[in-house]
Amino acid sequence: MACKFVKSFLLKSSFSPVLKKSLVTSQRLFSSEVRTVTLIPGDGIGPEISAAVQKIFEASGTPIAWDPVDVTPVKGPDGNFRLPQKIFDSMAKTKIGLKGPLETPIGKGHQSLNLALRKAFSLYANVRPCRSIEGYKTPYDDVDIVTIRENTEGEYSGIEHIIVDGVVQSIKLITETASMRVAEYAFKYARDNKRKTVTAVHKANIMRMSDGLFLKCCREVAAKNKDIKFTEMYLDTVCLNMVQDPSQYDVLVMPNLYGDILSDLCAGLIGGLGVTPSGNIGSEGAIFESVHGTAPDIAGEDKANPTALLLSAVMMLRHMELGEHANRIQKSALEVISEGKVLTGDLGGKAKCSEFTDEICEKVVSSK
Ligand code: IPM
Ligand code: MN
Repeated sequence: MACKFVKSFLLKSSFSPVLKKSLVTSQRLFSSEVRTVTLIPGDGIGPEISAAVQKIFEASGTPIAWDPVDVTPVKGPDGNFRLPQKIFDSMAKTKIGLKGPLETPIGKGHQSLNLALRKAFSLYANVRPCRSIEGYKTPYDDVDIVTIRENTEGEYSGIEHIIVDGVVQSIKLITETASMRVAEYAFKYARDNKRKTVTAVHKANIMRMSDGLFLKCCREVAAKNKDIKFTEMYLDTVCLNMVQDPSQYDVLVMPNLYGDILSDLCAGLIGGLGVTPSGNIGSEGAIFESVHGTAPDIAGEDKANPTALLLSAVMMLRHMELGEHANRIQKSALEVISEGKVLTGDLGGKAKCSEFTDEICEKVVSSK
C-alpha cells in the first residue's frame, strides 16, 4: 500500500528525472525490507521441517528474519497453565507467525495449544486450499477446493458441563459477529483469488437456530457480494458429492467442527495432511501452520516431509505480498514432487528430509 503511494507520488511530482530515478530505487529497496516472522518450530518433527523451510527461504533470498518462540505452556500464579509471555510480545511486533505441529497432551491440565493460539490472537478464519498436485497420483486429479472454517467458536467453544451423573452437555456457540466476519472473509478471499462460487455448508435443517444464524449471516453477506455466486448445502450432501466428484466445489465456508472434518476430507483427496497448507487469519495478525501431527516416531531422523509447512509458508508470503518468492518456492516444491525422483518416505520415495529440501533449493536458485 505504502509502496504504491510512494510510486504514484513520485510519478506525479516535479522532481528531476535523476532524483526521481534514485528515489524509485530506494523505494524498491524499501519494498524488499526485511520483515520479521514469529517462528514456532513446534514438537516432534517440527524443528526439522521448520529448518527446511528456513533453508528454502534463504535460497530464494526471501526478505524474512525469524523470531523463534517456544510456546510450551507455563504455570501461572493461579496454578493454571498458559501461553508464555514471549509469544504475545513477539506476535505484537511481527503480527505474523509460522508454526510447526504442536503436541496436544491429553489430560495434562491445559487445552490444545493449537486452539489456545487461535483464541489468543482471534484468528477467526481458517483457510485450507486443497489442490491436486500434478504427477502425484491420488484417486482424483482435478481437485481445487478451499475450505474456510470459522475458527473461534461453534462446537470448539469448550463450554461443557455435567448436568447430572451420566449426562453431559456441550454448548455449540454461534454468534452473529463471528459468523459475519468469517462469511465476509470467504467472499473477500473468493474475489481476491479469482474464485467464482462460495458455498455455505450447514445443518440448519437440524440445528435450526445455531446453524440457522450462521446461514442467515452467509446469505446477508452474499447479497452484498453479487459478483460471487452463492450456494448453500447440507454438510452430509457435500460429503457425499465430494467423494464422488470433488471438481464441483470451489470455496466452502462453514462452522468450526464441520470445517475441521471437511478440511481433512479434502486434504485426503489430494494426498493428505502432509501436502496441505493452512492459514489462520485474524484482523490483528495471522498464523500459518502445518496441520499434520508431530510424528514422534520419526522425529530427529531426517525423514520428515516439510511440504505442508512449506506450502503454508508460501501462503504466508502471499499474505505478506511477497508473491514473487511465493510463486518461485511453490513452483519448485511442486516440480520436485511431480518429478518423483527425490521424495520423502510418506510421498513414496526414499529421500531424507534434507535431500528433498536441497532439491527444492536447487530449483529455487536456478529459477531466480
Ligand atoms: C486442525 C487440528 C486441530 C483442530 C487439533 C490439533 C486441535 O485437527 O487444525 O484441524 O481440531 O482444529
Ligand atoms: Mn483437524
